[in-house]
Amino acid sequence: MEQSRGSWGSNIGFLLAAIGSAVGLGNIWGFPYKMGKSGGFTFLIIYFLLAVFVGFIIMIAELAMGRKTGKGTIGAYHTLSRKFRWIGWLAVFSPFIIMSFYSVLGAYCIEYMSLNLSNLAFAGAEIKTGADLFGSMLTNPFGAVAFTVLFMVICYLINRSGVSGGIEKFNKIGMPALFVMLVIIIIRSLTLPGASEGLKFMFVPGYAVKAGFISEAPGFLTVLATAGGQMFFSLSLAMGAMITYGSYLSKQENLVKNSGIIVVADTIVATMAGLAVIPAAVANGIAQINGGATVMDAATGLERAMTFADIQLGGPSLLFVTLQDVFQAMGPIGPLFGVIFYLLVLIAAISSAISLIEVVVTYFMDRAAEKGRQGNRPRIVLWVCLAIMVEAFLVAMDGLGSNGIAPYNLLGMENNINGWNDCWLDFMDMMSEGIAMPLGALLMSLMVGWEIKPRTLLDEIHQGSRLRIDGFFSFCIRFIAPLGMVMILLGQIDTFFRLGIF
Ligand code: PFF
Repeated sequence: MEQSRGSWGSNIGFLLAAIGSAVGLGNIWGFPYKMGKSGGFTFLIIYFLLAVFVGFIIMIAELAMGRKTGKGTIGAYHTLSRKFRWIGWLAVFSPFIIMSFYSVLGAYCIEYMSLNLSNLAFAGAEIKTGADLFGSMLTNPFGAVAFTVLFMVICYLINRSGVSGGIEKFNKIGMPALFVMLVIIIIRSLTLPGASEGLKFMFVPGYAVKAGFISEAPGFLTVLATAGGQMFFSLSLAMGAMITYGSYLSKQENLVKNSGIIVVADTIVATMAGLAVIPAAVANGIAQINGGATVMDAATGLERAMTFADIQLGGPSLLFVTLQDVFQAMGPIGPLFGVIFYLLVLIAAISSAISLIEVVVTYFMDRAAEKGRQGNRPRIVLWVCLAIMVEAFLVAMDGLGSNGIAPYNLLGMENNINGWNDCWLDFMDMMSEGIAMPLGALLMSLMVGWEIKPRTLLDEIHQGSRLRIDGFFSFCIRFIAPLGMVMILLGQIDTFFRLGIF
């Protein structure tokens, strides 16, 4: 069985693939700005605590579930549980939905990379500002769809070659390359004049409010929900990815050590991404302010001097407007940094996307095996990618709500919520990251802690590991993880209330 399913070529190959899954847009884009918007250090500390007491434990549990059953997400839940067997479906639904926007964001990275490449090749040609560029990209559905197809073709080619032949090979080259490129961008970012303000924004408690980047720090529950949601998303948990990757892992490998390495590596890369992105964006904002830049005041409609609050550090504009302006302001060498940066984000996006696709593919492969057939991987991957493309087209054509087909347009609602009905990307994100993921994680920890009991997984965890964490594991999975998840869910519901959804 193990043989026909395929397995990782080596433990380091598995580790790089798992780190590749974890390191993605969530790290490079989500982490830095969520940290800034949530009061910097408070967020960081809550994030670390959640990563150790919840993330690390759920990571071990998911890898153990996959390896013990030798099956993908749905198969693993079916084998292990009676009461919670249906959670597997939730954990396959999430990756499928996430891919609808992940692929489009990947497509934007390809567009930006090619743009910077052409700016490099045709130095001296007229160059658009980041805002103009992003605006024209969003309102060009054809381009977005074409690049989404390209992104999906790349993923298809990797996934069709299998776990060790495709996913592992890509990550073995992609992850070290990403790391080197990240270091190059950090050095450039930190040497820009004014970068120290960005460092303070990240690491000095309360500085974001004091310096006027944000008007007030959010409440504790909101920070908890943001940090918790971010932690699950960033570590690729509660979406079947680690169950799936664990199912291809050999019994000799150490699940505890591997989980620790994945969590630490992901957190280090997220912090590094912060260092690459935030100081550069802040430095560029300061240069604009010092240069006497003005902005249109949204409330009054009048032109006024730019302030720290106008430096865009959140949302899609951070990567696709602010940073593009940073590269353009660097002069003739700027586009080179642009190419390096968008290439590294693209690699991060691909390495995560292939794990999301693999969750769905493994389900169909396992189903074929259950019926006594050897699944046709290339064909299954093709169908899964085509299905993803259908939903991704909606997100691509919507252009973040620019083209009149956003949920609120189609449903005839008012767009006063500033959230889920704004655009299809936010809608998909709310369904997956906002609801399915925390709910799935809560039910999963209840299942392991109270239905099948921690012992069932501890037996698996003991194989390949001499380190005994039985007490810590049982306590966290029975009490801390469910409590943390309930609080994250409450924070999420609280956000929904404030957005007027309920
Ligand atoms: N961890 C990825 C990121 O930080 O962007 C996103 C992700 C990949 C989430 C795979 C879930 C998953 F199963």
